[in-house]
Amino acid sequence: MGEKVDLLLHSAAELITVAGGSARPRRGREMADIGLIRDGAVAVRDGRIVAVGPTRDVLERVETDRATIEIDARGKVVLPGLVDPHTHLVFAGSREYELEMKIAGVSYLEILARGGGILDTVRATRAASPARLKEVAQGYLREMLAQGTTTAEVKSGYGLDLETELKTLQVVAELNGCQPVELVPTFLGAHAVPPEYRDNPEAYVDLVVEEILPAVAGRGLARFCDVFCEEGVFSPEQTRRILSAARRLGLELKLHADEIEPLGGAELAAQMGATSADHLVQISEQGIRELANSNTVAVLLPATTFCLMGTQYAPARRMLEQGVAVALASDFNPGSSPVNSLPLVMGIACRQLKMRPAEVVTAVTINAAHAIGQAYRLGSLEPGKQADLVVFDAPSYQYIMYRLGAQLVDTVVKAGRVVWRRRGMDAC
Ligand code: NIG
Ligand code: FE
Repeated sequence: MGEKVDLLLHSAAELITVAGGSARPRRGREMADIGLIRDGAVAVRDGRIVAVGPTRDVLERVETDRATIEIDARGKVVLPGLVDPHTHLVFAGSREYELEMKIAGVSYLEILARGGGILDTVRATRAASPARLKEVAQGYLREMLAQGTTTAEVKSGYGLDLETELKTLQVVAELNGCQPVELVPTFLGAHAVPPEYRDNPEAYVDLVVEEILPAVAGRGLARFCDVFCEEGVFSPEQTRRILSAARRLGLELKLHADEIEPLGGAELAAQMGATSADHLVQISEQGIRELANSNTVAVLLPATTFCLMGTQYAPARRMLEQGVAVALASDFNPGSSPVNSLPLVMGIACRQLKMRPAEVVTAVTINAAHAIGQAYRLGSLEPGKQADLVVFDAPSYQYIMYRLGAQLVDTVVKAGRVVWRRRGMDAC
C-alpha cells in the first residue's frame, strides 16, 4: 500500500526539480544542473512533497482517493514556485512621470538629488494609511502570483523615519498569511537620506543605528538588514556601521552594492558575510573574486538596468565563469523597476546577461531561496520540501524565457494548495 496523498501532479512534459542544491548555493557549471524529469510527477501530503519522479514510479508509490487533488500536467512544464529575493513591494503612489525624464536623459541619481525618485515615494508612503498600503501591495502580489512567484523578499525603505518604517514592516507581517505569496521582510531604513537630514546625513545614520534598527529588531519585524551603498547615498563606511549594528541585533545582511558607481560593495558584502549582494552592475574583478570565495549570493536585477535604459548590464557571464553563485530578482519598486514578473526578468536575463535558460531556472529557484535563507525548505522539488510549484503552459522550460511578455502560468500551488488557476477565454 502506497502513502495516501492530498495532491498528485502527473504526466508533466518536463518536471524541473532543481534537486540537490539545498546545502549551499549552486555556482559555476552546477547552475545548469536543473534535474529535468520527462513525464514527471509530484505527490504532496500535508503541504509537503512526499514523492518526485517519473509518473510511473510515483503512481506506484502513492495512493489516491476522491479527496486527492489531481493535476494533469500533460504537455506542460513544472518548476518549483518562483522565489523573488529582492523587492520593494510596499509603497504608495507611482512614478510613471519619470519615464519622460529618463527618455530625456536625466539620470536616476540626478532625479534623486533633485528631491524626486525615492524621496517622492517617501512622501506618498508617509502619508498613506496602513490599510491603503496593504491594499496596494495586495494588488501587486496578485500580479506576482499570476506570474508564478510563490515567495518574495520585501524591503522597507520608503519611510525613512521610525513610524513609517515600522508601519511598512507591520504591513508586510500582516500580508504574510492573508494571501498566498510568502514574504520575507528586510529592513532598508538606509535607502536614502530623508529631506529633514539632508544637511546632516551622519545624524540620520545615528538615528537608524540607535533608534530605528533596535525598534525593528525588538519587534521581530525583519530577518535581514539592507543598505543602499551608493555615491551620494550611503558610503561604504556608513554601510559597514549600519550592517555591524544590525548583526549585533541578530539580523542577517544584504547590500545594494555597486549598482551605479563601483564603491567596493561586493567586497564589503563578502567580507561581512552578507547573505546576498545585489545589483553589481559595476562590480570589480576583485569583487568577483571575493564573492566567488564566499557564500554570499549575487542577486542580479536586469529588469532594473533595462528600465533605467542602461547600456551596461551586470557582468553575469564573468561572474559565472569565476564561480559566483548567481540569483535573479525583479527589484520591483515604483522607480527603477516597475516590473514584478519573474518570467519577464528571466527573458531579459537570457538576452542581456547572456545567461543560459538552465542557469536562469536555478537563479530564480534554489539560488534565490539561498539569497533569502530559505533553501532548506523552498526552491526545489524534493521530498520533505514545502510543495510550492508552478505549472507553465509551455512545451519546454526554454519556451518560458523565449516568449518574452507572454502569460504562460497555468496553475500555482503553494504549500500543497492550488492558489491560482488560469481562466479560459470565451472562444467562438
Ligand atoms: O534597488 N537602488 C535603490 N533602490 C531601488 C530603487 C528604489 C526606487 O527608485 O524607488 C533599487 O533599484
Ligand atoms: Fe532594490
